[in-house]
Amino acid sequence: MSGVETMTRPAVLILLGPPGAGKGTQARMLQDHFGLVQLSTGDLLRAAVAAGTEAGREAKAVMTAGGLVSDEIVLAILKDRLQEPDTAQGVILDGFPRTTVQAQALDKLLAESGQRINAAVSLDVDDAEMVNRIAGRFTCGGCGEGYHDTFKAPTVAGVCDKCGSTDMVRRADDKAETVGQRLAAYHAQTAPLISYYEEQGNLQRIDAMGEIGQVAKDLSAIVKEAVA
Ligand code: AP5
Repeated sequence: MSGVETMTRPAVLILLGPPGAGKGTQARMLQDHFGLVQLSTGDLLRAAVAAGTEAGREAKAVMTAGGLVSDEIVLAILKDRLQEPDTAQGVILDGFPRTTVQAQALDKLLAESGQRINAAVSLDVDDAEMVNRIAGRFTCGGCGEGYHDTFKAPTVAGVCDKCGSTDMVRRADDKAETVGQRLAAYHAQTAPLISYYEEQGNLQRIDAMGEIGQVAKDLSAIVKEAVA
């Protein structure tokens, strides 16, 4: 993808999908292409943990165990982030909402500010592929670019293609025993949102088993239509 699409009003896109589906990878590509801002509640929570805030301290144990952080904490963190001026150009919600309570709170928040959801896109991947993707994942500590040992290795081993940093990090919750819990949380609490958005008429689905570039093409076509 190249160039930045222009939009007439702020867009709200939701990327739904299990751990490792490619939400972060695709959100970063959409951000570059459409000039939207990626809001990852996982990243916001990891920042709170690193900063040692009260919310971060509460979230840490839950995240390490692979469960979902309380709706109260997540909603407070997201609302704060949405107050920042850069979000006025439109947002891609990556990993939010994850429960029906969060989805309903988002609907209310958007209604209050006269906004609406342009599309909720489910990235469909089977459980075995998720485990493969998570097991090989690492991220640039400098700029946050995501990589994979097999599917998306940096051009020069250990050096970020985007910012040149050599600080590559692996997530604490990507261990095999935690991944099972994260998948269980997804199936029990987040997968029902597929029906929620289907009933609202906002749902789009993508086969996200293909390679990164193909998924990006399919997703980009949906987003272009949804924000037109
Ligand atoms: P979060 O950070 O949101 O993690 P997640 O949903 O588990 O999703 P991931 O980041 O693991 O995967 P992804 O879909 O972004 O995949 P990626 O693009 O990296 O949440 C972490 C924790 O925070 C949760 O467990 C929970 O505790 C808490 N939390 C967060 N939000 C919350 C909320 N709203 N409510 C409550 N708790 C919350 O891709 C994975 C790998 O695969 C990468 O290496 C990538 O290079 C590779 N890859 C991507 N696409 C492809 C492809 N098409 N083919 C091959 N490889 C690919």
